Amino acid sequence: MIVIASDHGGYALKQELMAHLKEKGVEFEDIGTYSEASCNYPEYAERAARGVAEGKYEKGILVCGTGIGMSLAANKIPGIRCALLSDVMSARLTREHNDTNMMALGAAVTGEMLALEIVDVWLDTEFSHAERHQRRIDKVMAYEHD
Ligand code: RB5
Repeated sequence: MIVIASDHGGYALKQELMAHLKEKGVEFEDIGTYSEASCNYPEYAERAARGVAEGKYEKGILVCGTGIGMSLAANKIPGIRCALLSDVMSARLTREHNDTNMMALGAAVTGEMLALEIVDVWLDTEFSHAERHQRRIDKVMAYEHD
């Protein structure tokens, strides 16, 4: 189960993304926002990120205007590795190398077709489990405690 969240700036792209995931048979929960009324992106990013960190969701996808605000907020939650993505190669490499458990899109930055391809690649790519990548991830995650 995947969690999906947006602010008002990402609402329209999130609707397209949800239709795409439904078609693909990917299970997800939309935790808001549910309209284009102005709202605060950190609240939605935090709720989604805590759900991923607690294991309620396997992965999370965030959408705001630039993707920056929601990715910043998500990365403050212990256990979260959120990548802001605008290209397909990074979508693949951040799963293989960083084992990211969340990704963010900027609706004002990335067109719909590219955004959907980025999401597909990110969801379909497994972590490499290479020792060097795990070692580097462990170093990053240790900063949560140091
Ligand atoms: C909201 O106006 C906008 O700041 C938000 O969607 C996002 O781009 C923040 O990083």
